[in-house]
Amino acid sequence: MPGTFITFEGIDGSGKSTQLRLLGNFLRANGCDALLTREPGGTTLGLRLRAALLDAMEEVDPLTELLVFAADRAQHVRRMLRPALAAGRVVISDRYADATVAYQGAGRGFSPELISQIVQLATEGLKPDLTLLFDLSIDESTNRTARRSTGKNAGKVPRDRLDIEHADFHTRVRDAYLQIALREPERVKLIETSGPVECTQERVREIIVPYLQSRGHLAMNYVR
Ligand code: TMP
Repeated sequence: MPGTFITFEGIDGSGKSTQLRLLGNFLRANGCDALLTREPGGTTLGLRLRAALLDAMEEVDPLTELLVFAADRAQHVRRMLRPALAAGRVVISDRYADATVAYQGAGRGFSPELISQIVQLATEGLKPDLTLLFDLSIDESTNRTARRSTGKNAGKVPRDRLDIEHADFHTRVRDAYLQIALREPERVKLIETSGPVECTQERVREIIVPYLQSRGHLAMNYVR
């Protein structure tokens, strides 16, 4: 594929979506027309699946959850990611298949074999070229997701069905992400996110800028 596929991953409250938005602004200002997308919900069908999947009032069976995330991904891969990559674009997705390994595999307890089969089916083997894994402690993550639904954001950002899982679940998810980073150090770069947003964004650019320059997507004399 001539394009470049980058994913952002991390536990809930890790700040990856804010970092993705800031990176998108920076890339646009430098003439790099990156496609920013997300899972679940990158396509119009995916948006509807997302609303149903994350509704805290919905009782979703774990197998159904696994299959609906996979359905969202199949639509995303076939209708959006592959065409954009084939056209040579930079695609950055807020979550992708590593999330299924971490949340449905480690979090819900589905076997690695089943997870790998479902991921293969949905992605048809499309893997990210680079993944940034945003990491912070479970305590800090819990505080951040709780703050989203109180204080000045009260009512605007309802907590989703997975946010409200207990700390054990989020600990298993985090450990699984860290294992992926250990297994695939070439692809997965770990970024610690407990500091200020601007410092984390600096770190993101330290990794992304030379990477995109080396692949011809970004000029050598970029504007900061
Ligand atoms: P977001 O808040 O980062 O947009 O993600 C929505 C939730 O969906 C988050 O709690 C993680 C969860 N999720 C899974 O459980 N499995 C998956 O495959 C994906 C993509 C997300």
